[in-house]
Amino acid sequence: MASIAEQLMHNRHFSQVYQHLWRPVFTRGFSLGASETVDYDRALRAYLRRPGARRILDVACGPGNYAADAAAGLTGDGCYVGLDFSQAMLAQADRSNRVERATFVRGDAHHLPFRSGSFDTVTCLAALYLIPDPLSAIDEMVRVLAPGGELILFTSVRASIAALPGAAGLAGLAGLRLFGRTELTRHLQAHDLIEVEQTITGVGQYVHARRARPR
Ligand SMILES: C[S@@+](CC[C@H](N)C(=O)[O-])C[C@H]1O[C@@H](n2cnc3c(N)ncnc32)[C@H](O)[C@@H]1O
Repeated sequence: MASIAEQLMHNRHFSQVYQHLWRPVFTRGFSLGASETVDYDRALRAYLRRPGARRILDVACGPGNYAADAAAGLTGDGCYVGLDFSQAMLAQADRSNRVERATFVRGDAHHLPFRSGSFDTVTCLAALYLIPDPLSAIDEMVRVLAPGGELILFTSVRASIAALPGAAGLAGLAGLRLFGRTELTRHLQAHDLIEVEQTITGVGQYVHARRARPR
């Protein structure tokens, strides 16, 4: 049976309130009401807006809440592609983003419909904990990353309050997975990604990594 979270992601009404009502509350919730996740999110948006001809893939883009920031600084052949498997989320992404250079496609994070090495930036934000086989989805993200390209993840981490008895069970009931503290960073290092950096913000973690260029 689909988890509560999975059912919500396919719900038309939820997709309409997700970006402006749900996500801000959820983002704040990652730092248990403190501001670290909100601050990091603001910095990430500014980072995404920097100028360049990047090809950006946003895996599990939801209603495209990063599309405008990611596309803002694009130059030359730069483009933003948002991928999600929920028709409801993609319909909302189309409605709320009239952004030049941005397109939205339906697809499964486990089998990305793109050639290897075709993106300079791959993001997967607030979604890995919902994806049934997150490590194989990461393998796909690494596959489509060009040499020198960057991977940016935002997801959960089993830290502080999440380690309390019952917390993991509650998250599991809602369909949210809590990752071990080094589970993702080790997986990326095993892929030979470089500059693997993790920032923990309460029960959230941001991970940046880069694919090495061939010598
Ligand atoms: C909580 S939303 C996150 C949306 C956006 N990335 C954000 O940062 O707010 C999670 C999204 O993951 C999508 N999703 C879950 N599993 C997926 C999969 N296997 N392939 C593609 N999208 C998936 C859902 O449809 C939903 O839109």
